[in-house]
Amino acid sequence: MNDISCEEKIEEVIKEEKKIENLLKEEKKILRWPLVERFEHHTLILLTFVFIVTGLPILKIEWFSWLITPPNTIVTTHDAVDLFRLIHKAAAGIFVIMAIFHMSYHTLAVRRTRIKITSKDLTDTISLFKYYLGLTRDKPKLGFHNPTEKILVYWLMAVWFMAFMGVSGFVLMFPSYFSIWIHEWALVIHDVFFYLIVFMLIAHFYMTVLYKEYRPLLEGIFTTGLISPKFVREHHPLWYEEVKEKE
Ligand code: HEM
Ligand code: HEM
Repeated sequence: MNDISCEEKIEEVIKEEKKIENLLKEEKKILRWPLVERFEHHTLILLTFVFIVTGLPILKIEWFSWLITPPNTIVTTHDAVDLFRLIHKAAAGIFVIMAIFHMSYHTLAVRRTRIKITSKDLTDTISLFKYYLGLTRDKPKLGFHNPTEKILVYWLMAVWFMAFMGVSGFVLMFPSYFSIWIHEWALVIHDVFFYLIVFMLIAHFYMTVLYKEYRPLLEGIFTTGLISPKFVREHHPLWYEEVKEKE
C-alpha cells in the first residue's frame, strides 16, 4: 500500500515537472530590440563597412589599391580614390543624420532609455570580468543591458570614437578653413581612432558571434527582435522581473 502511494507520488511529481517544462516552453519570447533600433544597428554596420572599405585605400594606397582597381577597370586609380573619398563623405553625412535621429528618437519617443552609466554598471563590469576570469563564482544580476556592451560598445565605440572620427573628419573635409597643424592632428586622430574602432569591432564580434553563450542575442538584433525567456531569465534576471511585472 505504502509502495503504491510512493510510486503515485513520484508520478505526480514527474507530471508536475512536465507541466512546468511545457509552460516554460510555451512562454512568449521577449522583445529586446524594437524595429527602429534594429534598423539603426543595421545602418551602423553598413556605414562602418563603407567607412572602412573606402578609408583603407585613402589610408595606404600601396597596400589597398586592389580594393579599388579591379583588373578591367576603366577608370584610373586616381579617379577611383576620388570616388572612394566621395562615398566616404556621403557615408559621413548619413552618419550625422542618423546620430540626430538617434538622439531625437530616444529623447522624444515614449520608450525610456537605460543607456546612462550608473555605479551599478561599473561594479557589475568588475564582477563580470572576475567571473569570466574564474576569480569568483558569483555572477552579477544584470538588468536590460550587459554593462560591458553598454560602456565599451555603445558609449566608447558608437558614441565617443565616432564623435572623434566625425570632428577630425570634418577638419579633413574642409582643410582650407583650418591651419596646417590642426589638419595634421586631425589626420593623426582619424588614423588612431580608426584602429581603435576596428579593435573594438573585433571584440564586439567575438562577444556576440564567436562566444557561444551570447549567440541567442543575434536573433534579437538581426531577426524579429525577440529572444528566448530562458536566456533572459539566466542572463538578465532583473530585466526579466521587470518584464514579468508589466505583464
Ligand atoms: C560585425 C557585425 C556586428 C554584429 C554581429 C553585431 C552584433 C550585435 C548584437 C548581437 C547585439 C545585441 C547585444 C544585446 O542584445 O545585448 C549588438 C548590439 C549593439 N551593437 Fe552590434 N554588431 C555588429 C556591428 C556593430 C557595429 C559596426 C556597431 C557600431 C559601430 C555596433 C554597435 C552596437 C551597439 C551600440 C549595440 C547596443 C549595445 C548595448 O546598448 O547594450 N555593432 N550588436
Ligand atoms: C563620421 C564621420 C567621418 C567623416 C566626416 C570622415 C571624413 C574623412 C575625410 C574627409 C577623410 C580624408 C579624405 C581625403 O584624404 O581626402 C577621411 C579619411 C579616412 N577615414 Fe574617415 N570620416 C568619418 C568617419 C570614419 C570612420 C568611422 C572610419 C573607420 C572606421 C573612417 C576611416 C577613414 C580612414 C582610414 C581614412 C584615411 C586616413 C588617412 O589618410 O590617413 N572614417 N575621412
